[in-house]
Amino acid sequence: MQIITANNVSKRFGSELVLNGIDLSLQAGEILGILGPSGAGKTTLVRCILGTLPLDNGEIAIQDTQMPNLRMMDKIGYMAQQDALYEDLTGLQNLVFFARLKGMKKRAATEQAHVLMRLVELDRDENKKVVNYSGGMKRRLSLTAALIGDPDIIVLDEPTVGIDPLLRELFWAEFKRLQGLGRAIIVTTHVMDEAEKCDRLILLRGGSIIENGSPEELKAKTTQGTLEAAFIESARRSNKGGDAA
Ligand SMILES: Nc1ncnc2c1ncn2[C@@H]1O[C@H](COP(=O)(O)OP(=O)(O)OP(=O)(O)O)[C@@H](O)[C@H]1O
Ligand SMILES: [Mg+2]
Repeated sequence: MQIITANNVSKRFGSELVLNGIDLSLQAGEILGILGPSGAGKTTLVRCILGTLPLDNGEIAIQDTQMPNLRMMDKIGYMAQQDALYEDLTGLQNLVFFARLKGMKKRAATEQAHVLMRLVELDRDENKKVVNYSGGMKRRLSLTAALIGDPDIIVLDEPTVGIDPLLRELFWAEFKRLQGLGRAIIVTTHVMDEAEKCDRLILLRGGSIIENGSPEELKAKTTQGTLEAAFIESARRSNKGGDAA
């Protein structure tokens, strides 16, 4: 089932064309990875998909509903690149608050919040104020905020930055489990071994998609057969085309 469809999406900030005619689609049970150098437009694309940034051109539909649409927000879990947490509340209070925003009853919210805090190994710190959390602890809490309420669509903007390798494994095991349950997942990353775990990748550069395919397809196009090479060689090719940032 098609969950997200984007057609010819363009976005400007002032005179800068940050997204240039982006097409993409995402099915239920699929993990889409968005790769690209810093400033390529990954976060902007994600925010356009969520409907938190207005488009200059093109259209985005989620489950056949034209975006932006506030009603769809209950179906989407979003982990922003920058943590958006209430520092004066405890971790658990933050999570219950986000659950309540999604319309969950207090008891169900609290129950699921405990489960998620355990999942990211924050259960022992759940009653600590977030102002006293480390960077990685805030990232972990932000992930739980994206997962609470069991959304159909999960959008994660660099979810594993500042996360140690063991927890990163744990995050990915969870993403794979959710995928198996039919959730559609979008993840932006700079980490090539994470990109390997996606079903499909788009390589963004200067606001355009310069490569699109499965990790295997992208690797097969390179001389070295690695995603790292796919990333670098496609950037070189697009430079030669003269349209790169
Ligand atoms: N709110 C904004 N106002 C003006 N320009 C913006 C805004 N948000 C992003 N940009 C510009 O859009 C371009 C793409 O930014 P974006 O944050 O989407 O990149 P990114 O691929 O997510 O980078 P990174 O990997 O560093 O997170 C950059 O040139 C950035 O300066
Ligand atoms: Mg970004």
